[in-house]
Amino acid sequence: MKRSPLSRWTTAQVEAGGWIRRMFAQGQQLRSDHGDDSVIDLSLGQPLDAPAVVREALMRAAAEDYPGRNAYMPNLGYPELRERAAEDVGVAGVTAACIAMTGGAAGAICLALRAFLDAGDEVVGVAPYFPEFPPYCETGGLTFVPVRADDASQRVDIDALVRALTDRTAALIINTPSNPSGHVIEHDEMSAIADVLQHHNRRTGRRILLVVDEAYRNLVYEPARRVEAFDHYEHTVLARSFSKDMGLAGERIGYLALHPSLTGEEIGRGLESCMRALGMVNASATVQRALLHLDSWQISVDGYRVLRDHARDAALAVNLDVAEPQGGIFLWIRSPWPDTLEYVAALARERVLVTPGIAFAVEERFRLCFTSTPDRLSRALATAGEVAARGR
Ligand SMILES: Cc1ncc(COP(=O)(O)O)c(C=O)c1O
Repeated sequence: MKRSPLSRWTTAQVEAGGWIRRMFAQGQQLRSDHGDDSVIDLSLGQPLDAPAVVREALMRAAAEDYPGRNAYMPNLGYPELRERAAEDVGVAGVTAACIAMTGGAAGAICLALRAFLDAGDEVVGVAPYFPEFPPYCETGGLTFVPVRADDASQRVDIDALVRALTDRTAALIINTPSNPSGHVIEHDEMSAIADVLQHHNRRTGRRILLVVDEAYRNLVYEPARRVEAFDHYEHTVLARSFSKDMGLAGERIGYLALHPSLTGEEIGRGLESCMRALGMVNASATVQRALLHLDSWQISVDGYRVLRDHARDAALAVNLDVAEPQGGIFLWIRSPWPDTLEYVAALARERVLVTPGIAFAVEERFRLCFTSTPDRLSRALATAGEVAARGR
């Protein structure tokens, strides 16, 4: 057989990590066979459309014309935008020097891992986890070490975390609100995580980096409240995205915010160098300018909240066991059949697409993205209930 020109690592990625891509391909096939309207694809984490005010800011930015408008620019972003981002973080001591504008939260996480960790280091992450975390680590020669969350509460299992830390642990990555579970890290939970890291640091003489993936930072639904990781642990970085709340996923914009204790001239130069080494160079200039044109970055997330309520209530109405979606854009549902893959396949035969939990390293659940219409969500969840009732 002819050997693929792809590297062994890439080939393994394609074979192992393809659940979301497979669901995407299946959706495309079903749509082309049966027409768009007959398929309800809730497998991908698409944001709602960008609000009008954001689209107008993009158009204004694209129309701007002055010398150097399209030239190379500072690797970490426009200085005035970094100041705005520091205000967005909203923590005393966080200034423009703490900010790097990046290609989304993905770029921010990769930048942090490249800037602060060395090949051979271990990165602990909490399952269910965003499937890109392992490849982000592996491309930097880092080993991703998963640790299961407590299934009933979706909180970090502190005892399991303690057991996962080793002398080679250099970072812990947490995601709040979580994709896929919708869990928002609580105050006592963050405090317990910080205690574990501090204790480990004292014992090993290392300083574990806490990477907080806040891709869904503004999508927190009351009574849940966002907890400020910077208040709990100094050696922390935040990865923020504008993909979801502003609907700018395709534009690739976000930022990395460093705790003030991590900043300095040398660190700034290091981040610049990593932006280039990672091939990002800088986040798109036009979308950076668009953010500057927005009077406020507090975009209403009422549209998301309404869909969250609708989807959760429709799931509960058909007796599905759903983790409380405190934030984000997903329902994390226990499979009503013993074999989640079989259940997900049965739903696909009814033309409802969701993502099996195995994609997030947890087999007994599946993920459903609720950024659809209320009508489609009702139909999808009614189907999910009917298929569940057939039993297996
Ligand atoms: C948990 C999580 N982290 C990071 C990302 C990457 O986000 P971005 O589009 O900002 O790179 C996503 C995107 O879906 C996500 O769900």
